[in-house]
Amino acid sequence: MPNVAYVNGKWVALQSATISVEDRGFQFGDGVYEVMRTYYGQVFHLTGHIERLLESADQVQIRPRETPGQIQKIIEAGCKKTGYKETKIYVQITRGIAPRLHSFPKNNRPTSVYTFREMTVIPQKTRSQGVSVISVEDIRWGRCHVKSLNLLPNVLAREQALQSGAYEALFVRNGWVWEGAGSNLFAILDQQIVTPPKGPFLLSGITREQVIQLGQKMGMPLREAEISLEDIYRADEVFLTGTTIEILPVVRVNGRKIGTGKPGKITQRLSSAFEEEVRVLHGHP
Ligand code: PDD
Repeated sequence: MPNVAYVNGKWVALQSATISVEDRGFQFGDGVYEVMRTYYGQVFHLTGHIERLLESADQVQIRPRETPGQIQKIIEAGCKKTGYKETKIYVQITRGIAPRLHSFPKNNRPTSVYTFREMTVIPQKTRSQGVSVISVEDIRWGRCHVKSLNLLPNVLAREQALQSGAYEALFVRNGWVWEGAGSNLFAILDQQIVTPPKGPFLLSGITREQVIQLGQKMGMPLREAEISLEDIYRADEVFLTGTTIEILPVVRVNGRKIGTGKPGKITQRLSSAFEEEVRVLHGHP
């Protein structure tokens, strides 16, 4: 079976999966989500994603209908069903179906939607050339560590980036650059890998965490600290991280060249180490 979905306990083909118009996810964006992918058929850091999903749900007082063990089984079953070499998985948990009132409905059953589709990877050319990004004002709320379904600021920022010929938009709040519309940010500054610290202004990415650990394993000096746009302009290298983009070099910010204007050495070393780590984690030679 190709693209599939698991909606409130039932497997269906993705194109015939539906939810009610009364669902609070649709009415208010009242829910949370996760994006995962497989490598060699196995989900990358599945436990970390499930933990983050449950933390996000807890932050907005939603108790998913499935236990962590059930969530894991559903995800593994979905990946088997698609039969794709690599699968991209979305999990969305909402506060469920109820007449539209802002306050929480009483005794409501949350909705859970799992979708499974073929994973498309970024073209090698994009990776080897690096991408351009722009900066935009961060108009998001103050709890960006929650992976909420409310993505309107991210949608607007990404569209603005695409319209100006860039790949991603970086959010700037109070003079600091926190992350991309759908990615975390790293810069090489004064021979150190720097990434903005965890907190309410960024989503603590699973890939971000892996890159931090890799940097430490490789003995590279690494610091979690605020980064300004000026820091970015003078950085030797800049890169983005995320589940689907992995480690993606940035070569221009707001039209200004970063470093030599080509993907930098440290970014390349980290990318190769990341690839190697994936092979080791997923048991491939
Ligand atoms: N985005 N920051 C934001 C705002 C994100 O939306 C994402 C992921 C990340 C990176 O997190 P991770 O490494 O766990 O994927 C950081 C996903 C892929 C999305 O919404 O499509």
